[in-house]
Amino acid sequence: SKKKISVLVGSLRAGSFNKKIAKEVIKIAPSNLELEILEIGQLTHYNEDLDQGNPPQEWVQFRNKIKNSDGFLFFTPEYNRSVPGVLKNALDVASRPYGQNCWAGKPGAVVSVSPGALGAFGANHHLRQSMVFLNVPMMPQPEAYIGNARNLFDEAGNLAANTKDFLQNFINAYENWLDKFQTI
Ligand code: FNR
Repeated sequence: SKKKISVLVGSLRAGSFNKKIAKEVIKIAPSNLELEILEIGQLTHYNEDLDQGNPPQEWVQFRNKIKNSDGFLFFTPEYNRSVPGVLKNALDVASRPYGQNCWAGKPGAVVSVSPGALGAFGANHHLRQSMVFLNVPMMPQPEAYIGNARNLFDEAGNLAANTKDFLQNFINAYENWLDKFQTI
């Protein structure tokens, strides 16, 4: 049966390069993977007080989506050498209440995308640090740092062929990475 992969994009911008790259990967993913972008911008800032009684409905829905995933694909920009707050907040929301970490044990992978030359390396590795604590085995190789994002799309919006090839190899490797783990 198909594996449900939740796709998290760390940018809320309509013209987001990360979102564009995520959509390209969704197009070329192996057919046994079902990729779905989960919205994260609607999630109220994490506050433990709200987890005492009835937590916000959007937290509950998001946590269920994460719980029902077989794995996670992250596409993140770099904000000040780290992950954007909106993505960190999504990690935090689905990691709580204490003892109910929804992420645990599902294999993940990250692509970081920036118009800058360094390909959001800092964000890529800050995300990996959190995922170690959340018990998400993140695919080590191939690493995916996509820099100079402004130059990767032509005027018609087509992605450069070598980047597409790179992403094809990346998502194929992620399929193999998933196979190494038993998921529910
Ligand atoms: C940035 N940007 C940025 N880029 C980078 O490579 N390293 C960085 O540390 C930062 N820091 C940063 C902070 C803040 C607050 C903003 C708004 C932006 C630029 C960033 O890479 C650029 O805006 C991207 O286009 C964001 O990704 P999306 O929205 O195109 O997916």
